[in-house]
Amino acid sequence: MKRDSFGSRLGALMALIGSAVGLGNLWKFPYMAGSNGGAAFILIYIAFLFMLCLPLMISEFIIGRRSQSNPVGAFRKLAPGTKWYFTGVLGVIGAFVILSFYSVVGGWAVKYFITSLQFGFTSATGAEAEFNSFVSSPVLPVVMHIIFLGATVAVLWTGVKDGIEKYSKILMPLLFLLVLVLAIYALNLPNARMGIDFMIKPDWSKVNSSVILNALGQGLFSLSLGMGIAITYSSYMNKTENLFRIAIVTLVMDLIFALLAGFMILPAVFAFGFEPTQGPGLLFIVLPEVFASMPGGGIFAIMFFIILLVAALTSAISLLEVIVSYLIEEKKLSRHRALVYSGIALVITGSLCSLSQGILSDFKIFGNNIFDFFDKLSSTYIMPIGAFFIAIFVGWKMKRKHVNEELDNNGLLKIRLFNLFWFLVRYFVPLAIVVIFLNMLGIF
Ligand code: PFF
Repeated sequence: MKRDSFGSRLGALMALIGSAVGLGNLWKFPYMAGSNGGAAFILIYIAFLFMLCLPLMISEFIIGRRSQSNPVGAFRKLAPGTKWYFTGVLGVIGAFVILSFYSVVGGWAVKYFITSLQFGFTSATGAEAEFNSFVSSPVLPVVMHIIFLGATVAVLWTGVKDGIEKYSKILMPLLFLLVLVLAIYALNLPNARMGIDFMIKPDWSKVNSSVILNALGQGLFSLSLGMGIAITYSSYMNKTENLFRIAIVTLVMDLIFALLAGFMILPAVFAFGFEPTQGPGLLFIVLPEVFASMPGGGIFAIMFFIILLVAALTSAISLLEVIVSYLIEEKKLSRHRALVYSGIALVITGSLCSLSQGILSDFKIFGNNIFDFFDKLSSTYIMPIGAFFIAIFVGWKMKRKHVNEELDNNGLLKIRLFNLFWFLVRYFVPLAIVVIFLNMLGIF
């Protein structure tokens, strides 16, 4: 079977950015920063991005472009006859776990988009009660989640994926502008200063092992790492692409979106008298207040939620693509069959995640409801473990010469920081992950 490849250089990069920038930046980053103490978390997060996530992304690129196959096939090809392909399988499982709760939040965004069309954010109070009553109801959020999931399946079904990626070339800059405008507005609200301080003045006393693990998990989640997404996309890249540069651009874009989202949400949290430690509802509770208080807020709300949906969709597509291409290439299913099976399975697990906000809230797995359990399972276990093995694979299993060849395109490019990269992948990344884990288990 001939594999597609990206028509343009921008195609691969846009798909990667599309996967990276999503609910992780706009929905998750602000509440993670809010619940983990603010500035200190953000600084640790940024340090992880550059020292850990960047070398990891490059490692995934190396595996993907060298093997030209899906994550499972990639390990089979580069390390035949070994168990390394389990790393790819872990990514498929991770994608399934993430998509289960990701599409629930996607469903929340669908509901808020519909509300914005009705200019429904007019009361400046009650956003919190409204959010809580919506997410805990048994039917509506489940239906919304199915709509979001259905849209994701439809995109991969009809092959309009490329079309979506073309759109996101326009929509991403637009999203950037919108979030920028909203952030500027939020920064000028009364009491915004407290939110700014919260984001820039670190209080190191709040840092503990779980804050560090959360920062690591958030970095991997936001950049879609440890799951074979970057392996998949880079397998379509051609041999002249500068992998290092693509990684840097993706990382910086993703970071900018996260920080802007933080500056949009956290000052408003303080301005409207909420707690930054709200958790997953933060964006959906704070933004309606912002829109209600803002001149022309109704129009901003419509624009914001539609673009948020596109950003969420491009990330969800990348997750579903990992599952589907595994089922097609490794299990020999037809594309449509793979989509139907995974769609049905995700409706079930997603509905459970949704119901765990209401009628199933008493059902706990290791002390977490199903939604939180899936979230933690992916960000703090599956992704770091995947990341660990990817680093070990590139740093210890692959030959230095081959790694170098991929990075400098067989001598065509000058790679100045190779030694630093090599050190980070071989030693820093795996050791940091192990230490963070042991620390969390209380072994230090
Ligand atoms: N990076 C996406 C976001 O920030 O919304 C979420 C995500 C996509 C995580 C793909 C993991 C992944 F493999």
